[in-house]
Amino acid sequence: MTTSSPAERAFSLSAPVRLWEDGFALDPYRYYAALRAQGPIGWGELAPGVPAYVVTDRRAALDLLHDTETFSHDSRPWEATVADDSPILGMMRWRPNTLWADGAAHVRYRTSLIDTFDRVEPHDLRARVHRAVHLLVGRIGPRGEADLVTDFARPLMALVFNSLFGLPDSQSERLNAALGKMMEGGAQAAEGEEEFGGYVLGLIAAKAERRGDDLPSWLLDHPARLSPEEVTWQVFLTLGAGHEPTANLVSNALSRVLGNPEYYSTLTSGARPVMDAVVEVLRHETPLANYGVHFARRALTFHGVWIRAAVPMVVSYGALGHFAEEEVTGARHPNDASHLSWSAGPHACPVKQHTLLIATEAVERLTQWLPDLEPVLPRERLTWRPGPFHRSLTSLPVRFSPRSPDQPGESP
Ligand code: HEM
Repeated sequence: MTTSSPAERAFSLSAPVRLWEDGFALDPYRYYAALRAQGPIGWGELAPGVPAYVVTDRRAALDLLHDTETFSHDSRPWEATVADDSPILGMMRWRPNTLWADGAAHVRYRTSLIDTFDRVEPHDLRARVHRAVHLLVGRIGPRGEADLVTDFARPLMALVFNSLFGLPDSQSERLNAALGKMMEGGAQAAEGEEEFGGYVLGLIAAKAERRGDDLPSWLLDHPARLSPEEVTWQVFLTLGAGHEPTANLVSNALSRVLGNPEYYSTLTSGARPVMDAVVEVLRHETPLANYGVHFARRALTFHGVWIRAAVPMVVSYGALGHFAEEEVTGARHPNDASHLSWSAGPHACPVKQHTLLIATEAVERLTQWLPDLEPVLPRERLTWRPGPFHRSLTSLPVRFSPRSPDQPGESP
């Protein structure tokens, strides 16, 4: 009798492609190829025994993302079919927020979030990113070595988001730890979800009591008159949707740049904009690799595949970007949608411009402060966190000439 390796099993046409196994983090493109070999919509697993249709074809993805009559975001019928302790519930549980809402409720939540984020001026956001980078360079600069994931990208997002949400820097570590556990969808996911829930509840209770000049306070006072509970859920979504993928966008971009010294020198000399590196990540290694969770309202045939109701349909933004490389040629613009990394249709990321600003300013400012960053490991030896939803580095160790930004005369 022959026993097949986990990788071989993952790629057998009859078995679902297991996006939860470690091999996926190691080499997602092999898994995307296996899904694609099944047609425009493959059969995958998000956790052991939790199947999903995975869309890897651009046309099918666009049809799914735009067709609100046929497909819903309401995950409750599916939730009734999974175990209460399923590790992916943290990422897929229905909540009264814009992501899981359809129709009028969706418009109400989404509009209030867009209006609220519109109040954040680009120059103010830039200043918050610069302040956070300065603080972190103050910590790592004198050491001459750092891990740009755990010492920079992740704490940076916690600092920036905490400041936008009206919390002190001292709370950043709590946020970082809770979200990290939840996003991996592993054994600690429920604990992370609970910790994060407690974090947001505490925040909204404080803002309901006393307003500040921050996103939750503006949301509480928005003309849509969201209840404090509804505000809590929008903040729960926004902090989670913002922190993790943006931290990964930054670290993925840094890893690509540092892994290619020639490229790095064109960026530090100003010959090439940092935006190029960020767009490259969106195309090749998008941080939210598989999401866009939809459910067919009734069983139907879609792009030649029989789709059952209440089974998740997931859009593989990672696969779409990867295969777009083969399909689309020529120069790219940040708003170029060939990769679909911001999704499309009514639920597309509403905070794309803010995110691009945060990511480009973070990379630019760091490389201005520490212009001779040198990776400790070749890019192919870097490791990636497990989980079906994200493309997220475990660590990015670097060396550089020590620098103390707070000494007199120091400036980036
Ligand atoms: C400031 C940071 C960010 C914030 C606050 C944010 C917020 C949001 C929110 C609130 C939604 C739900 C919209 C709706 O359902 O109507 C959303 C959707 C989405 N966001 Fe973002 N986002 C951020 C960064 C990112 C990043 C870095 C990526 C990846 C490149 C990303 C990709 C997406 C995608 C693909 C969706 C569609 C939802 C889905 O796939 O299910 N976002 N975002």
